Amino acid sequence: MEAIKSLREPIVCVLGHVDHGKTTLLDDIRGTSIAEKEAGRITQKIGATEISYNILEREIKTAFKNIPIKIPGLLFIDTPGHVAFSNMRSLGGALADIAILVIDVNEGLKPQTIESIDILKKFKTPFIIAANKIDAVPYFVNTSNTSFANAIKMQRREYIEELDNRIYKLISDLYTYGINADRYDRISDFSKTFAIVPVSAKLKIGIADILMVLSGLAQKFLENEIRLTYEKTLGTVIEVKIEESIGITLDTILYQGMLKRGDTIAVNTSNGPARTRVKAILVNSNRGLKESEKVVAAAGIRVLITDKIPVIAGTSMIKIDENTSEDEAFKTIINE
Ligand code: GTP
Ligand code: MG
Repeated sequence: MEAIKSLREPIVCVLGHVDHGKTTLLDDIRGTSIAEKEAGRITQKIGATEISYNILEREIKTAFKNIPIKIPGLLFIDTPGHVAFSNMRSLGGALADIAILVIDVNEGLKPQTIESIDILKKFKTPFIIAANKIDAVPYFVNTSNTSFANAIKMQRREYIEELDNRIYKLISDLYTYGINADRYDRISDFSKTFAIVPVSAKLKIGIADILMVLSGLAQKFLENEIRLTYEKTLGTVIEVKIEESIGITLDTILYQGMLKRGDTIAVNTSNGPARTRVKAILVNSNRGLKESEKVVAAAGIRVLITDKIPVIAGTSMIKIDENTSEDEAFKTIINE
C-alpha cells in the first residue's frame, strides 16, 4: 500500500490539562525525548513534529496487520496545558484537522481539559481521547513498548476492573459535556462515538493504537480537508524570533500549498499587513535544522524573511504574486 499522492499530512493537535502527558506521548511518537529537557517540564510553546508514511506504517504494523494507510504521514502540534497559555491552545485548535485530547485516566476531567473540549467544539475539530497513565492504575502488571490491545491481555482481572471503572467514569463525565465516547475497541460506528484509547506514555503502551485510530479516522472522514492543492499557499506563524545576526525568523505551520525560497509573502505586523520575501526555509532533520529550497504542506518550517518587520505570532502567512496587494490577500482568506 502506498500513500495517496493527492493528500497532505493531517495536522494533529495535542491538547489537555497541564501534566497529563502530552509531550511524553509525542516523545514516544517521535522516538526522541523533549519532555525531559523542558525547563521544569512545563511546556511553554507550540512545537511541531512530523512523522513520515514509513514510520507510521511500521508503527501500526507492529500490532495491527492489514490496515491500509493512505495518508502521507502526520504532523503533530504540541501545546502547553498550563492555565496561562489559553491562546496557544486556541491556536492549536484552529490549526488542527484532528486532535488528541490527553486525559490522565486517574485524574479525569480538569479545567484545561474542559477548556480544550470547548476549543475543539468551537472549531468543530474531530478528536480522539488518549486516556493516559494506565500504568498508574492499581494491580498493573509491568509491561512496556506494546500496543494497548496486547498489553491488556497480560493484565489481571483486578486491573481490568480498576481500569474499566476509570474509563466508565470518564465516559460518564464526558457525556455531561455532550460527548458520547467509548473505549475504541468497543466502538462499532466511529462516526457517532468518540474513541478513547488507553495509553501509558511513560511506558510506551498504546502508541500503535493511537496512530491506527487517528489514521483510520483521518482517511475515512477528512479526505476533503486534507486534499493537497497548489492554488493557494497558506500558513500560520506560531512564533517570531528576532536574531541580531540573521534577521527575523517565523516558525510556521504550512497547511496548504507549496512555499519556495524567493517567494513573496503577506504577513501581519503590528503596523498592519505587510509584504516580504522568503530568504531561506529551514526544516527539521535528524541532525537539527537544514535548509530546504521548497516545502509542501503540511509542514512545520522556519522561514527567514528579508525585511525587519514586526510580525505578529498567531496570524496568517499567505504566498502572493507581484500583482496582489497584501491587503487584498488577507481579504480573500477572511471571506473563505
Ligand atoms: P504540559 O505541557 O506542561 O501541559 O504537560 P504535559 O501534558 O506535556 O505532560 P508531560 O508529558 O510533560 O508529563 C508530565 C509528567 O507526567 C511527567 O513527570 C511525566 O513523566 C509523567 N507522565 C507522562 N505520561 C505518563 C504515564 O503514562 N504514566 C505515568 N505514571 N506518568 C506519566
Ligand atoms: Mg508538554
